[in-house]
Amino acid sequence: MIETLHSTAAEAQARLAEVADLDALAQLDVEFLGKKSALTLAKRQLGSLAPEQRRTAGQALNQIRAEVEGAVGAARERLARAALSERLEAERLDLTEFRGTARRGSLHLVTQARDRLEDVFVGMGFSVAEGPEVESAWYNFEALNIPEWHPARGSFDTIFVNLGAPEEVMLRSHTSPVQIRTMEKQQPPIYIVAPGRTFRTDTADATHLPAFNQIEGLVVDRGITMGDLAGTIDEFVRTFFGGDVKSRLRPSYFPFTEPSAEFDISRADGTWLELGGCGMVHPNVLRNCGIDPDEWQGFAFGFGIDRLAVMRHELDDIRELVNNDVRFLRQF
Ligand code: PHE
Repeated sequence: MIETLHSTAAEAQARLAEVADLDALAQLDVEFLGKKSALTLAKRQLGSLAPEQRRTAGQALNQIRAEVEGAVGAARERLARAALSERLEAERLDLTEFRGTARRGSLHLVTQARDRLEDVFVGMGFSVAEGPEVESAWYNFEALNIPEWHPARGSFDTIFVNLGAPEEVMLRSHTSPVQIRTMEKQQPPIYIVAPGRTFRTDTADATHLPAFNQIEGLVVDRGITMGDLAGTIDEFVRTFFGGDVKSRLRPSYFPFTEPSAEFDISRADGTWLELGGCGMVHPNVLRNCGIDPDEWQGFAFGFGIDRLAVMRHELDDIRELVNNDVRFLRQF
């Protein structure tokens, strides 16, 4: 009997090694290990053997069953692996859009400009600060000395969010709210720059985007003067653009600085290009943040990062920055 079972087991192993799907495997499992299989029937007959024979036959049976069970397990594993690789193959996606022109990705122009700006200012001793893109009227206007009745509110072309009281919540129209958030949290001396996205109701054209990027600068320390502001801007312009680019300040008006100025940089053809606004932090702004203007003075500046990228790469149209045309982007 054991002889026959050995050959049955050998047959089982041979067939299991070739089984091609899970249904066939289940059938073989029943055929060789199920209730009516030769192995199970043989086990039932053990009782009729003499005790000594029963022991050796029992051991042999157990060993044969273990072998067949092992073969079933191995077949199941093999089929599962095959099913998995078949599925992976079927679900594979070809993500190579441009065959044969594999190219490493690169940072977007605006990200490159922002990174360089941060580097230059960090090199001058500034830290980088951040604030939220959705702001309240307090941070975007009031704390910056622009009360509700102030005509300057209109000039910011603010995009309001339909939340809370009318005109209470908005997409920030400049990065200046980060001045307030920084002074609220931190005692002077303060030396920060805050790059980030800003929003206005502008229609996109060659020189405007409704979502754009600014970088804000804020210094608050003892004995800070307009000379420190002019020197800082000059130093930044020289480091960022290279040796022969100069900067100049022109009188201007912002509610949150007094005096205020606009700053320009010189171009190769001798003309000047407006870059941003700046000035000495208004005493009301310091007071709004619990800083004593008799003890501390400061300056602030803000300008557009996208425009800087446009200038640096001499683009004709600022919209190129958001069209995301790879043929354009891969040039940088
Ligand atoms: N926030 C001003 C703007 O967006 C720029 C500015 C910043 C002016 C800081 C003065 C000081 O137009």
